[in-house]
Amino acid sequence: MTTPEKLYEGKAKIVYKTDDPEILLTFYKDDATAFNAQKRGTIVGKGQINCTISRHLFQLLESQGIPTHLIDTPSPNEMRVRRVTIVPIEVIVRNIAAGSLCKQTGVPLGTLIKPALVEYCYKNDALGDPLLTRDRLFLLNLATPEQLEEIRTLSLQINQVLSEFFNQCGITLVDFKLEFGITSDQQLVLADEISPDTCRLWDQSQTDPNQRVMDKDRFRQDLGNVESAYQRVLERVLSGIQAQS
Ligand SMILES: Nc1ncnc2c1ncn2[C@@H]1O[C@H](COP(=O)(O)OP(=O)(O)O)[C@@H](O)[C@H]1O
Ligand SMILES: [Mg+2]
Repeated sequence: MTTPEKLYEGKAKIVYKTDDPEILLTFYKDDATAFNAQKRGTIVGKGQINCTISRHLFQLLESQGIPTHLIDTPSPNEMRVRRVTIVPIEVIVRNIAAGSLCKQTGVPLGTLIKPALVEYCYKNDALGDPLLTRDRLFLLNLATPEQLEEIRTLSLQINQVLSEFFNQCGITLVDFKLEFGITSDQQLVLADEISPDTCRLWDQSQTDPNQRVMDKDRFRQDLGNVESAYQRVLERVLSGIQAQS
């Protein structure tokens, strides 16, 4: 066994090359960052939890006809994925107003958004991942109109599948971030991860606005019990998957 070559290291994962140029190994870290990495910390066990949650959600989406980069998970915090060229757009889907939407527009926290809102941010840490307009997106050549249409359609389908699944788990899917990539054979697939780092998840059994938070907002806002919240999401997802089979 040769030591795998590191391709790049992001805030949450390390990406390694494998013997197959079409396959990458992603290692999920316990590192946590927020506010464009100005706040840093560790969430013990997060790597394994996020990798496992992501795997199950990707499998669920695949079963519903949505192509993803998932191949398999050789260990609890490692995922083998199809190598893609990441489209440098962070797609945000919102069902309930929270976070930057409230800050930037004044829409009150918790406002129901129907139909769901799809937003696009430029995946560029140096620029602070700014919100894009459709015209800016084309100005920057980040995607073609056809790709953008496909990304939007897939994102809304993903929202349908995930909202329904989380609802069955007693969790409200408030909003989430997606990344898409293009394979060497030009297929657009869902990439990166879907986890409590990238979703806002509210526990339906809690009414208190702080108690209900099961996602990275616990870390962002110093709400405490971050590890146990992530663990509870994993347990609910595992029960939800089991209930389906
Ligand atoms: N299938 C894939 N092929 C290539 N790169 C990927 C794939 N899935 C995710 N990535 C990229 O891996 C990098 C590391 O992930 P992460 O640590 O979450 O990064 P970030 O700091 O940008 O959030 C990101 O740039 C992400 O877009
Ligand atoms: Mg990331």
